[in-house]
Amino acid sequence: MNNNLKNVCCSGDCSKNEKDCIEASRDLFPENILKFIEQCLKDEHPNSQLITVLHKVQDHFGYLSPQTMDAVAYLMQIPAAKVSGVASFYHYFRLKPCGKHVISVCLGTACYVNGAEAVLKKFSEELGIKEGETTHDGMFTLEIARCLGACALAPVVKIGDDIHSQVTPDKVPFIISSCLKK
Ligand code: FES
Repeated sequence: MNNNLKNVCCSGDCSKNEKDCIEASRDLFPENILKFIEQCLKDEHPNSQLITVLHKVQDHFGYLSPQTMDAVAYLMQIPAAKVSGVASFYHYFRLKPCGKHVISVCLGTACYVNGAEAVLKKFSEELGIKEGETTHDGMFTLEIARCLGACALAPVVKIGDDIHSQVTPDKVPFIISSCLKK
């Protein structure tokens, strides 16, 4: 294994050879992510695309597992510690599996002043979980967002691709039950 790859080795006690590691890393990702990484590697500063790559991986898998982060490190030839450091630094990266429905309650300024905190509290009570947690049945993950770019509709809650506007605590049970019907 060359020195460059030793630096990005997933665990340091890996017995696979360099070719196996790269193949195993490639096998984890769909073609669109592999193509994007290949494109990044042609850039003068491939590391500057790390956050974009991690977003694509999270969009595909729902979260960033240790295996996918190590694979990104291998394929981009970036130290694994740097990849996991970036992933854990930014709040928008999830490091644990999420539920079928990810509920993002915006606590940005416009939403906050319009009562988003009470909305978050109601979701928490109804689902029996705190922010950052997933229900036992794997149906819901509750998250906080910082401005979803729809301030005029505050308070805003995003669930999957759906934006719920002017959400009040009394609307929360209906929103949850409509998710369960999907
Ligand atoms: S502050 Fe909530 S959408 Fe902008």
